[in-house]
Amino acid sequence: MEFQGNVAVITGGASGLGESCARMLVDRGSKVSLLDLNADKGEALAKELGDGAIFCMCDVTDEAAVAAAVAKTMDAFGAIHFDINCAGVGWPAKILGKGGRIDMNIFQKVVTINLFGTVIVMSQCAEQMVKNQGNADGEKGVIINTASAAAFEGQIGQASYSASKAGLVGMTLPVAREFADYGLRICTIAPGLFDTPLLGALPEHVKDSLGKMVPFPKRLGVPMEYAKLSMQIIENAMLNGETIRLDGAIRMAAR
Ligand SMILES: NC(=O)c1ccc[n+]([C@@H]2O[C@H](COP(=O)([O-])OP(=O)(O)OC[C@H]3O[C@@H](n4cnc5c(N)ncnc54)[C@H](O)[C@@H]3O)[C@@H](O)[C@H]2O)c1
Repeated sequence: MEFQGNVAVITGGASGLGESCARMLVDRGSKVSLLDLNADKGEALAKELGDGAIFCMCDVTDEAAVAAAVAKTMDAFGAIHFDINCAGVGWPAKILGKGGRIDMNIFQKVVTINLFGTVIVMSQCAEQMVKNQGNADGEKGVIINTASAAAFEGQIGQASYSASKAGLVGMTLPVAREFADYGLRICTIAPGLFDTPLLGALPEHVKDSLGKMVPFPKRLGVPMEYAKLSMQIIENAMLNGETIRLDGAIRMAAR
């Protein structure tokens, strides 16, 4: 789809991969609605991006809050064409660790944010997208979800995170098939190791050694590389129903 004048909802849009997509979309003439829990960063970014951006304080697991954010986006921009879902968390916990069995509240929370939250936002955005006038191909909207290399080779302690991300991978094709009649496409990006605030707390030397684990290029990915792939998914009508690894060929070890 074309960028100019079209509107994107971006969850996790205040930081990291989502922020990078917001910047690239605004550069290309799109409008962006940033949905995030981090009001300080989200509001500052929306202000910096100017008239083409709004911030909606929103927990993606709260259906009413998502509905309010979608309504605010429709009021501000009149339509939704793209939905990029980057909101996510990855709290490590072993199923049977030194302290005993996993706290099911943690397992549930990770799956609820990463998987259920994505479905809540995606369904509410799709409801608006189907109202759009299709382009020459009949396209009315594009959805991009964010999985992880951990969907395929999660490390010890990543059971909940891997399960949530594998859920996103698993639903990509059935949702593409379901949405085909509506003129909506969906792809999932599975990033490897990216230098975002998610890894920010790690010391530089740990980040360097993580980067060296990547076969090529031997470094962490930068958020712009995620944004570039998102732009290609939006632009290229043949990309649909697929999960694309973006990882420099890394295959994570068990620990
Ligand atoms: N950085 C990496 O190496 C990497 C690798 C694989 C996958 N990912 C995935 O990419 C996505 C983006 O991660 P990032 O690296 O940009 O991290 P990040 O921490 O910079 O950004 C994530 C954003 O999501 C927001 N968020 C968290 N829970 C939320 C909720 N319930 N409702 C609304 N917003 C919420 C946070 O406030 C934050 O602004 C995540 O889904 C993450 O799992 C990241």
